[in-house]
Amino acid sequence: MSISYTSLEAKVQRMIKPSRFQHSLGVAEVSSMLASRFDLDTGAAEYIGIYHDAYRYSADGNSVRICREHGIDVFPEEELNPMLLHGALAAVHFDEDAEGEVPGYYKTAVRHHTLGSKDMGPYGAVVYIADYTEPGRKHLTDEDRERIFSGESLEDMIITIMDMQRKYFRRDGIAEAGVSTELYSFIKDGGKL
Ligand SMILES: [Fe+2]
Ligand SMILES: [Fe+2]
Repeated sequence: MSISYTSLEAKVQRMIKPSRFQHSLGVAEVSSMLASRFDLDTGAAEYIGIYHDAYRYSADGNSVRICREHGIDVFPEEELNPMLLHGALAAVHFDEDAEGEVPGYYKTAVRHHTLGSKDMGPYGAVVYIADYTEPGRKHLTDEDRERIFSGESLEDMIITIMDMQRKYFRRDGIAEAGVSTELYSFIKDGGKL
């Protein structure tokens, strides 16, 4: 038995900056909305959403070792930029912070919210989309949001988001992470999360 959503929300509020907490509230809300639309468990989506960035300020040079000690595969891009491991750290600490064992798919979802993965599952898809689209995100226009949410499936929405990201990556000369490219190809080939 783990603590309630309300207790977890209060705990997360103490762990991160107010602006990041506001973002997390937005992610929880959009996650719940997406879960309801696609017949998933709204409570689970909200719980994962509020927690996803709890370790946003904790990832550092030790994170690679900690993740590996807990059996989490670390991607090369994460090794170069440990900040990306804040989702993996959240997966490591989820049971402890929830004060009880949470289902494995909660941990899988938070682990992969940063780069995405073909193994992130439907709840990973939900939090990934919510993370990008929550109302506090100023990089998106209302039209962008509409375009994303007009997707008929979670997979469609991820492709729309990744196409937007790819435009920025190209402009700024950033290489997409291997695990992200793999996700993109997986969905394009008809894969379901
Ligand atoms: Fe994050
Ligand atoms: Fe986030």
